[in-house]
Amino acid sequence: MPDFLTGLQSLDIGQFRNIETARLAFSPDLNLITGPNAAGKTSLLEAVYCLGRVRSFRTSDADQLIRYGQAAFRVVGRVGLQDERVIPVGIQRRPGHYDIHLEGQPLRRLSDLAGRFPVHLMTGDTTNILNGGPRYRRQSLDWALFHVEHSYRNAWQRYAKALRQRNAALKDHAPAAQVTAWDGELVDAAAALDRLRRNYLSDLSGYVARELAVLLPGKGFVIRYQPGWAKDLNLPEALEKSLDKDRSRGYTQAGPHRADYALLVDDRPAQTHYSRGQQKTIIVGFLLGQVKLQHALEAPKGAFLLDDLASELDAEHQARVLAGLAELETQVFVTAISTHALDLAAWPLHKRFHVEHGVIQEVV
Ligand SMILES: Nc1ncnc2c1ncn2[C@@H]1O[C@H](COP(=O)(O)OP(=O)(O)OP(=O)(O)O)[C@@H](O)[C@H]1O
Ligand SMILES: [Mg+2]
Repeated sequence: MPDFLTGLQSLDIGQFRNIETARLAFSPDLNLITGPNAAGKTSLLEAVYCLGRVRSFRTSDADQLIRYGQAAFRVVGRVGLQDERVIPVGIQRRPGHYDIHLEGQPLRRLSDLAGRFPVHLMTGDTTNILNGGPRYRRQSLDWALFHVEHSYRNAWQRYAKALRQRNAALKDHAPAAQVTAWDGELVDAAAALDRLRRNYLSDLSGYVARELAVLLPGKGFVIRYQPGWAKDLNLPEALEKSLDKDRSRGYTQAGPHRADYALLVDDRPAQTHYSRGQQKTIIVGFLLGQVKLQHALEAPKGAFLLDDLASELDAEHQARVLAGLAELETQVFVTAISTHALDLAAWPLHKRFHVEHGVIQEVV
């Protein structure tokens, strides 16, 4: 059973998205949030996320979180720490500006709040990991690494900038020397991205394999990483080789922006060789592995947010995800249209909340 004191104990919300006001006391284990479409379920998760990360997972413009026609939103939580203290954390957003309070004191830098209350998020479009294009897998990878590797964001930004400049030169039909002038910075940032991605996927491979050993016994699992250029070349060689083609097409073809990975079960790609049901099981193993690795990499316990899991997974697979999360002994928030079919035996302290038109009520 989770430590009763850790996690988000209560939350006050004012003028956040379609939630005018709410005052909620949460369970330290599972909080189930139900309600029809557009009720405000994801908005509630977003408020919790915002408290932990001082940003949204749906928009980069925090002003959009302010309820239409209002001057500011306010989210105040009481967070239980591992050392048994309970601290109030408050965040307010006026257009263009955050005000943050920790234990009644204003915080000057947003980063001071980070790490006090880590939140992890899993959203519903999980089958994209198998059936979507490489972009989805890269996004998932980037997302995970942004959260656990501080140097990743910096390398990613440096890479994106060098790539933008190089592509602009290609598009302008600039002389080759003006194109390759960016290669040094590009290759340098790419090396950092590639190393962090490779290490993360290698760790993740082990975590997922452990989950699948239970879910799909007797089958081997491995993640095959593809860095974004030909295996037998290093990146400078790949850039040199594709320079003529880059110049005729007007963009850079080799590099981490083209990376991908495949989930191999018994050496066969999961999306082409397994049934729909097996694919769901593989996705569940992948998600649980990701969640557990994320948890292992980030020491303080926080909360897990699962948005709309039921939209992709049937009752049996949802139950497996919840069983895996129960092993983490951490606070969990799950949204769903309905949760009738769920077995909640592993969650003796669970609470239910129902949302309608932005009004949230505990179901007792
Ligand atoms: N700043 C805002 N002010 C007021 N309402 C907003 C704001 N931003 C979004 N909304 C509205 O809030 C409502 C709730 O959205 P939300 O995504 O939380 O619903 P949901 O319960 O997760 O629905 P679904 O089941 O479809 O995912 C939507 O109708 C949305 O248009
Ligand atoms: Mg939603």
